[in-house]
Amino acid sequence: MGSPPLIFLKHNIIYLKVFIIFFLSHVPNGTNLCPNHSLATLKVQRPPRLNSTNIVSSLETLGLDGYFSFENNHHAAKDFGNMYHFLPSAVLHPKSVPDISNTIRHIYEMGSASELTVAARGHGHSTQGQAQAHQGVVINMESLQRLEMQVHIGKTPYVDVSGGELWINILHETLKHGLAPKSWTDYLHLTVGGTLSNAGISGQAFQHGPQISNVYQLEVVTGKGEVVTCSEKKNTDLFYGVLGGLGQFGIITRARISLGPAPKMVKWIRVLYSDFSTFTKDQEQLISSENSFDYIEGFIIINRTGLLNNWRSSFRPKDPAQANQFSSDGRTLYCLEVVKHFNPDDTKTVNQSIENLLSKLSYIPSTLFLSEVSYVEFLDRVHVSEKKLQAKGLWEIPHPWLNFFVPKSRISDFAEEIFGNILTDTSNGPILIYPVNQSKWNNKTSLVTPDEDVFYLVAFLTSAMPSSTGTDGLAHILNQNKRILDFCATAELGIKQYLPHYNTQEEWQAHFGPHWKVFVQRKSAYDPLAILAPGQRIYRKATRTS
Ligand SMILES: Cc1cc2nc3c(=O)[nH]c(=O)nc-3n(C[C@H](O)[C@H](O)[C@H](O)COP(=O)(O)OP(=O)(O)OC[C@H]3O[C@@H](n4cnc5c(N)ncnc54)[C@H](O)[C@@H]3O)c2cc1C
Ligand SMILES: *[C@@H]1O[C@H](CO)[C@@H](O)[C@H](O)[C@H]1NC(C)=O
Ligand SMILES: *[C@@H]1O[C@H](CO)[C@@H](O)[C@H](O)[C@H]1NC(C)=O
Ligand SMILES: *[C@@H]1O[C@H](CO)[C@@H](O)[C@H](O)[C@H]1NC(C)=O
Ligand SMILES: *[C@@H]1O[C@H](CO)[C@@H](O)[C@H](O)[C@H]1NC(C)=O
Ligand SMILES: *[C@@H]1O[C@H](CO)[C@@H](O)[C@H](O)[C@H]1NC(C)=O
Ligand SMILES: *[C@@H]1O[C@H](CO)[C@@H](O)[C@H](O)[C@H]1NC(C)=O
Repeated sequence: MGSPPLIFLKHNIIYLKVFIIFFLSHVPNGTNLCPNHSLATLKVQRPPRLNSTNIVSSLETLGLDGYFSFENNHHAAKDFGNMYHFLPSAVLHPKSVPDISNTIRHIYEMGSASELTVAARGHGHSTQGQAQAHQGVVINMESLQRLEMQVHIGKTPYVDVSGGELWINILHETLKHGLAPKSWTDYLHLTVGGTLSNAGISGQAFQHGPQISNVYQLEVVTGKGEVVTCSEKKNTDLFYGVLGGLGQFGIITRARISLGPAPKMVKWIRVLYSDFSTFTKDQEQLISSENSFDYIEGFIIINRTGLLNNWRSSFRPKDPAQANQFSSDGRTLYCLEVVKHFNPDDTKTVNQSIENLLSKLSYIPSTLFLSEVSYVEFLDRVHVSEKKLQAKGLWEIPHPWLNFFVPKSRISDFAEEIFGNILTDTSNGPILIYPVNQSKWNNKTSLVTPDEDVFYLVAFLTSAMPSSTGTDGLAHILNQNKRILDFCATAELGIKQYLPHYNTQEEWQAHFGPHWKVFVQRKSAYDPLAILAPGQRIYRKATRTS
């Protein structure tokens, strides 16, 4: 340890900042900031030979349980990123799985004469248009929500849910049986299909793997309109292809999610470090300890951002006075965030086990912040902050997020450059950083990870202030993102993007590396016309004359 003493100061500056931000975000004409990325290929497409009138008449013959909407579809051209806006020709509001399969089969049978593509839209919490379909069909998966959520109790309990179900609803339903999924995301207002198409990673992943390692079975509608049930044993290739498959091989209509006993309460702890290598050494030790914490994450505090002044601030320590007066004095600090589950009966045991785990760590002794909340309150923590930001108009603003997996052997090189050189003044939002050991992850899924067993998830969860041209504006943040990406490339850190975003197929090929061949094979097997998830920009639909 031996860290210099910290100065504790009363800070009112952040409130002023939020006020100014609030004011700026309400300046008229302040939202026209869409970056002009290299989207030329998408924007200057030839007009589709099947115009919207044709589409109406052809889709309307399908006789569905649900319905199509052809007007006022602007919500489908929007996502959490608030940077990409592609208007579809139609939005399907399915009431049944056949609604989805009939629609896709119809489009498949039109063949390459039509340029129609199909994007499943979960909760639209992508940040770069991944759930959008330029002049195509968007399927509003949430219309399928609450179709028979069924909890099965037994030796290996599980729940069957719709692909459009929100994780928060699954939590409430399974808790009625004293059960819950084991692996989560930090935010639960996301759909099953949306997170399973990526990975679904949070502080439980070091122990249980990501959400895609906790699925027993899927029902999928392929790009040919076939409805296929798949699992580890049945249609294995499709099963693993779809998990982490960025929506490229099929639409997840149902999923069987593994469950475990749910605790009633959690002890929620934050401790601070001033030295990066001490911080990561402790994190690495914790993810390989016996009877460790149930959740292990961490974040970077640059000029005090991230501790209390961010959207994860539902953390309410037992000594709020101490926490409120805490100041980083302009230095970068590292916060370890851990949670231990418990039930009211075992308060004593949990207390002892926590003291034991903490005694092996080397954090700054005066910086132990402890909170005690219900399991639901902990898991749904980000929603509390969402509501606050929404009230201030600070939720629906651009979110130029960047997510990485960084190999353990290079994490200090990464940190030195990023936190020592590129992001020195402010981070414009939380930066998460925590290690996982992927030997506990299923390695047959489509998810691409670094070669080392242990790697760090690093998430830059930035918000850009509409109409700002300063360091909190979109242009500045995008430029910083580029510097970060350029550094990772030139330093050859062996990183992989999580929730990846690329513009060219060459970049995608490099992203998948040796897995690209299998990816291509699966694409031609399950979605040969490249109808599905065009917003990922991995494939462009093949059309007859091009
Ligand atoms: C506030 C916030 C917090 C987050 N926290 C985490 C986190 O802690 N951990 C983490 O791993 N991720 C996190 N994410 C990222 C999130 O998991 C992804 O953005 C996810 O895609 C969002 O789910 P969605 O339901 O909104 O999906 P959408 O954005 O609607 O869709 C994502 C992609 O999946 C496809 N898709 C959607 N539904 C289906 C389906 N049923 N079948 C096949 N493909 C489908 C879409 O076409 C699109 O390509 C967070 C995002 C936000 C906004
Ligand atoms: C956006 O990109 C297009 C095509 O590359 C270009 O013609 C246009 O001038 C750009 N617009 C802005 C505002 O940069
Ligand atoms: C669509 O195409 C049909 C012929 O294929 C044409 O009659 C119709 O006017 C077109 N509609 C629009 C809106 O362009
Ligand atoms: C960060 O801290 C330094 C040192 O205290 C200060 O000079 C700088 O203005 C701070 N930056 C922000 C954005 O608060
Ligand atoms: C354990 O119990 C003691 C005494 O009640 C309390 O002071 C301490 O904060 C507890 N520790 C944890 C980690 O809950
Ligand atoms: C990762 O986990 C595996 C299996 O438990 C273990 O053998 C390995 O030592 C771990 N790696 C590290 C670096 O902790
Ligand atoms: C995948 O995991 C299995 C079981 O843990 C292991 O035997 C195998 O070597 C791994 N394969 C790769 C390519 O890492």
